[in-house]
Amino acid sequence: MSAFWSDWVIVITFAMMGGCLWLLFGNSRGKPGESTDHVWDDDLREFNNPLPRWWFNVFVLTVIFGAGYLAFYPGLGNLGGRLGWTSTKQMQAKLDELTARRHAAFAALAGKDIPALAKDPSAQSLGRAVFLGNCAGCHGADARGAVGFPNLTDKDWLYGGSPEAIVETIAHGRHGIMPPIGLGLTADARQALLDFVPFWSDTTLDPAKREAGMRQFAITCAPCHGADGKGNQALGSPNLTDDIWLFKGGREGVGDTIMKGRQSTMPAHENILTPDEIRVVAAYVYGLSHQDGESQP
Ligand code: HEC
Ligand code: HEC
Repeated sequence: MSAFWSDWVIVITFAMMGGCLWLLFGNSRGKPGESTDHVWDDDLREFNNPLPRWWFNVFVLTVIFGAGYLAFYPGLGNLGGRLGWTSTKQMQAKLDELTARRHAAFAALAGKDIPALAKDPSAQSLGRAVFLGNCAGCHGADARGAVGFPNLTDKDWLYGGSPEAIVETIAHGRHGIMPPIGLGLTADARQALLDFVPFWSDTTLDPAKREAGMRQFAITCAPCHGADGKGNQALGSPNLTDDIWLFKGGREGVGDTIMKGRQSTMPAHENILTPDEIRVVAAYVYGLSHQDGESQP
């Protein structure tokens, strides 16, 4: 606020307080039962009764309280008040207190490795809170994912389910790219793939189709998905031999994938979460697929 407006507010505030007092004292002179000359409807008289004493006093006290408040708290233009209180400082103090409490909660878990944290109920509830606040929007509150967002509760990992791989995924993010590779294939080659890839795990598949599909797969897809189709965790290319689909499965879903390509981004969290928070939420995720207490991914 410019100096002019600040002074203006100060003058107006004092003028209002003075005005209130003037009104109060100006109207408290009457005596009980003192009549004015005003008469209406023949017998309706106006008296000049003063305000009840207690009421008058409450008004005066209110003005005194107001003056005291303005002396100690900000209210008069740019003047800060003697206590130096500001809402920003109050909020900062509250935030500092919460941060300190959070650090204390995490400090208790320092030095424990992720499999141990995954079995620690207090770490799991902290991890769940971080998960719900930062991850559930994409992976679902139950971490079971959705189309394009991997399920984190199973043992099917795009990038690996070891503690280190999970921490790496969360801290630095991942970016899976499958090019629209089907565009460069002949119709026959595409047909051979679509007759086979969606049904890889189906043991009743016609062996001739499997063989033809496999041949095409070895040429076009194996560099990324592996000759055995089990994927490559360095690229994030999924295992195609199980019946777990990140996108849609079936002839249609797989056809879409090879014709349009797929791109997925898991955002990096190293600038959003502290290293402690990353470890604890990684332990939460690790725990989801190790409910039975085994230690190997
Ligand atoms: C904006 C959406 C989004 C958010 C937020 C997000 N993720 Fe992801 N996450 C993804 C996508 C998409 C993938 C798959 C990336 C790919 O296919 O390349 C993924 C992959 C992963 C993987 C790898 C899964 C595997 O099979 O290897 C893990 C682990 C993971 N996320 C954990 C988390 C955690 C923990 C959080 C919260 C701290 C989080 N994600 C927040 C979208 C998100
Ligand atoms: C350049 C490497 C690369 C090549 C070549 C490639 N893929 Fe992929 N593929 C990927 C990656 C990476 C993903 C995961 C994309 C994502 O997470 O968004 C993927 C995803 C898929 C999916 C989705 C899996 C699911 O769970 O929904 C299918 C199906 C697929 N690829 C089939 C194929 C087929 C068939 C070929 C050969 C015609 C092929 N890919 C060639 C890298 C590749």
